[in-house]
Amino acid sequence: MKSAWTPQSKLPAVGTTIFTVIGQLAEEHHALNLSQGAPNFAPDPKLVESAARAMRAGHNQYAPMSGVHALRDALALKTQKLYGATYDPASEITVVASASEGLYATISALVHPGDEVIYFEPSFDSYGPIVQLQGATPVAIKLSPVDFHIDWDEVQAAVTPRTRMIIVNSPHNPSGSAFTSVDIERLTALTRDSKIIVLSDEVY
Ligand SMILES: Cc1ncc(COP(=O)(O)O)c(C=O)c1O
Repeated sequence: MKSAWTPQSKLPAVGTTIFTVIGQLAEEHHALNLSQGAPNFAPDPKLVESAARAMRAGHNQYAPMSGVHALRDALALKTQKLYGATYDPASEITVVASASEGLYATISALVHPGDEVIYFEPSFDSYGPIVQLQGATPVAIKLSPVDFHIDWDEVQAAVTPRTRMIIVNSPHNPSGSAFTSVDIERLTALTRDSKIIVLSDEVY
C-alpha cells in the first residue's frame, strides 16, 4: 500500500543527473559512455590478487576513521615524490570512499548557513546541491569559451564578505582544461590573507 505521506525533498529542483541520463542512453544504444571515466581495461591482476590476499588474511574489520595507516603513509610518499608537497599522514591525509564523499564531508564541515561558495560551470553536478544543503548560496561562474579558462577578474568581482570557499577542478571535467601557473597565481593572490578556503577537486 502506498503511504499517504511523501517525505519532502530538501532539493526538489535537482532532477536526474546527466551521468544517469547519458549512462542509460549509452547502454541502450551500445555506445561508448563518455560521461563517466569508465575504464576500458581490466584491473591489474596484482591489484585483484592483493585485495583477495588481504581479505583472506582477515583484514575485514573497520579501518581507523581517517584510513589505514599504511595507505596514508603510501599516499604521503606518493604526493612527496610526484609534487614535492609534504603532508603529515597522521594529521593531514584522510582516506575517503570516493571524491563525492570527500566533497560532501569537506563542504558540510566548513560551509555555514549564509555563506557563499564560488564554483565554475560546467561543473560536476553535486557541487551546487551540496552547498545548498548547508543553507549556503552556490555562486556559479561560467568558464570562458573556447578553452574554458577562468576569468579571474569575474571571480574577484564575485567575492563578497560572505565568500567562504572557492571550488576548483583541474584538470576540468568535462572540458579537460587545466590550470596554468597564472591561474594558480591569481587564485593565490585572491585568497591570501582572506578567510576563503580553496577546495581543489583533482579527481583526474
Ligand atoms: C570533477 C569530478 N569530481 C568528483 C567526481 C566524483 O568522483 P567519485 O566517483 O570518486 O565520487 C567526478 C566524477 O565523475 C568528477 O568528474
